[in-house]
Amino acid sequence: MSVKILMVCLGNICRSPLAEGILASKLPKNKFTVDSAGTGSWHIGHAPDTRSIAAAKNHNLDISNQRGRQFKTADFDTYDYIYVMDNSNYTDVISLTENPAHKDKVQIILNELYPNENVDVPDPYFGMTNGFEIVYAMLDEVCDIIADKLIAKHA
Ligand code: 4NP
Repeated sequence: MSVKILMVCLGNICRSPLAEGILASKLPKNKFTVDSAGTGSWHIGHAPDTRSIAAAKNHNLDISNQRGRQFKTADFDTYDYIYVMDNSNYTDVISLTENPAHKDKVQIILNELYPNENVDVPDPYFGMTNGFEIVYAMLDEVCDIIADKLIAKHA
């Protein structure tokens, strides 16, 4: 059975699609499934932001086939690991938990790199163009750590 990982941000068009593509590229497909969702509903059915698609393409990763969807309570049962991009996503996701086991699955993603520091992956949506490259680099670094950990534990 596949180990399931969900990446969560606000819109599911900028950060979590990159996180999904980057982590999936580092894990064997036969053992792991990586998906993403947003806490908000604005971008359901939408492709990732063109700037995220471009940043991924710069690193030979194609995320253009992803489509936005909204995080739902059932995801706590479907997924084994839920990584949120920032503290605000954490609050929103935790507010939907129904039991302690749900809460245990949720981690602020950069805590895998900077334990207990609760550092945000900054939302690049309204920011500078190179914000997407900065986000890519942060996610690439932390996804190396996550992939090593998941492979050691499950593969
Ligand atoms: P994301 O960025 O959470 O990284 O996908 C955003 C994209 C869109 C919006 C907010 C954040 N929005 O408000 O539409």
